[in-house]
Amino acid sequence: MTRQEIPNPKDQIPSSAIPEAAVAPSWDLEVGSGDFHIVAFCCHYCAYAAADLAGSLRLQYPPSVRVVKLPCTGKLDVLMILDAFEHGADGVMVAGCMEGDCHYQIGNLNARRRVHHVQTLLKEIGLEPDRVRMFNMSSAMGQKWAEAVAEMDAHVQALGPSPLRKPSPQRRNARRGDRDAAPAVARI
Ligand code: FES
Repeated sequence: MTRQEIPNPKDQIPSSAIPEAAVAPSWDLEVGSGDFHIVAFCCHYCAYAAADLAGSLRLQYPPSVRVVKLPCTGKLDVLMILDAFEHGADGVMVAGCMEGDCHYQIGNLNARRRVHHVQTLLKEIGLEPDRVRMFNMSSAMGQKWAEAVAEMDAHVQALGPSPLRKPSPQRRNARRGDRDAAPAVARI
């Protein structure tokens, strides 16, 4: 299929035909991580391979990113993105194949639609919609992967930590310590 062709809905592969994610998401974002957390949902065929290539080429990119491999971004649903925010992500990247090159035909187009939907939801609850963004790249674009992560990292740093993020155990303990050290208020 060329990029200009509009897929016939009858030819579309349902998302149920896409296999389950090979790697279960790990949401342990608070432990031993830096100040900001970005979760990147990456398609196995393109962005994941691009990230691998960036590693092989020793390209530098921020360590704030945690990669979750998916068989196709079409497998990503809205709840998975919201789950990432709930578990401490300050930003979420969805990285799929170039438009027209998805191995499941329109998986990446469905993913883009879901990303837009989550952006609307974030706006409704008072969060910056572009804390979640969609990227498209091929497996040969290691440089683009590194640039996309750097761009997202800089953007999230400028926005600051997500208000949904739970405090880390260290921060929780520090806060508890402050509370214990605070003088008792006399009751009259
Ligand atoms: Fe890569 Fe669908 S196979 S986004």
